[in-house]
Amino acid sequence: MPHDLELSFNFLTPTKIVFGLQATDEVRIEIRALGGERTLIVTDQGIIQTGLLERIKGSLGNLCVGVFSEIPQDTGVHVVNAAAELARSLKVDSLVSLGGGSVIDTTKGLAILLKEGGKLENYQGFQMLNRPQTPHICIPTTAGTGSEVTFAAVVKDHARNQKVLLFDYHLAPNVAILDPQMVSGLPPRITAFTGMDALTHAVEAVHSLQREPIADALALHAIRLITTFLPHSVQKGDDLVARGQMQIAATMAGMAFTNAMVGLVHAMAHSVGARFGVPHGVANAILLPHCMRYNMGACPDRYALVAEAMGVRESEMSDEKAGEAAVTAIEELTQRIGLPGRLREVDVPKKALKDCAELSLSDGSIVYNPKPVYEGKEVLKVYEAAW
Ligand SMILES: [Fe+2]
Repeated sequence: MPHDLELSFNFLTPTKIVFGLQATDEVRIEIRALGGERTLIVTDQGIIQTGLLERIKGSLGNLCVGVFSEIPQDTGVHVVNAAAELARSLKVDSLVSLGGGSVIDTTKGLAILLKEGGKLENYQGFQMLNRPQTPHICIPTTAGTGSEVTFAAVVKDHARNQKVLLFDYHLAPNVAILDPQMVSGLPPRITAFTGMDALTHAVEAVHSLQREPIADALALHAIRLITTFLPHSVQKGDDLVARGQMQIAATMAGMAFTNAMVGLVHAMAHSVGARFGVPHGVANAILLPHCMRYNMGACPDRYALVAEAMGVRESEMSDEKAGEAAVTAIEELTQRIGLPGRLREVDVPKKALKDCAELSLSDGSIVYNPKPVYEGKEVLKVYEAAW
């Protein structure tokens, strides 16, 4: 990063954060503060079974006029359209999303349709909106995606087998409510891989070509928190202190990467996710160390910062040595929390790696990778190392 007059960047994080035990009790006050009087809760069937929905409905009281819960794991344009139809029939003026990435992305899309009308694909691309959208309060039930503060949403158009990518400052939820009790029931494996997604966001924000000091500060503190509190969250799910610190870390990492962007790890993780359904965080956890080794020559100083944040840099270490220590520490963390370390363990066939490598080249994240990636064979080498 230039420490001189070459440095220039935009940084924005418009979402109000409400954190604490019982923070969800604030949802009614926050909806009223946004001018909402008729609120739709958007969630999924899994959340309904946990009983979390009833708490939010109770907090909202008579402001809640309906619930939309028909959201599959892999949401789609048709889901957003169905939600919009219900919301219009109920004259909804505000939204509460309660769930993980799929629920939050659906609600971001819904916020656009209710405000702008038309079709979601009309708003595909970068900064296509020019005014605030339908008020949206986000209550995440995982700690990892950072979607509660990011400007992005991905919604699949199943009919055309394409992804609709939306990226706009106006997509950031107005408020994110982080209540440790909302994530304390998360099973160990999901806790582990969503946490590694957050770690990947933070590391990729630090090495991104679009890195800058404000995102650095957020990302590096997120790395500190994840190093300490992810193992506790996995091993003792009801440790509300650890859960809360992981929520904060994931949100800080989200603020960092939605400004600084991500890189090769995400490009490659998206490909094995699309082709073989490897959960996003699992793919990130496997690929992150190998992408760091690929990038090492381009940014050893950045990985030395990661090593410092993880507490593995010793005073006599060069940046390269410290960077290697960071890579090792990440591999050890992945192992410690019980996630697989190899692509072959998650049923990715070796013969498919070439196709995945080509697919990765067309992923938007790849342009921010610190070491330029030009050809599929470069990506293939990284896949093979991770296989
Ligand atoms: Fe991610």
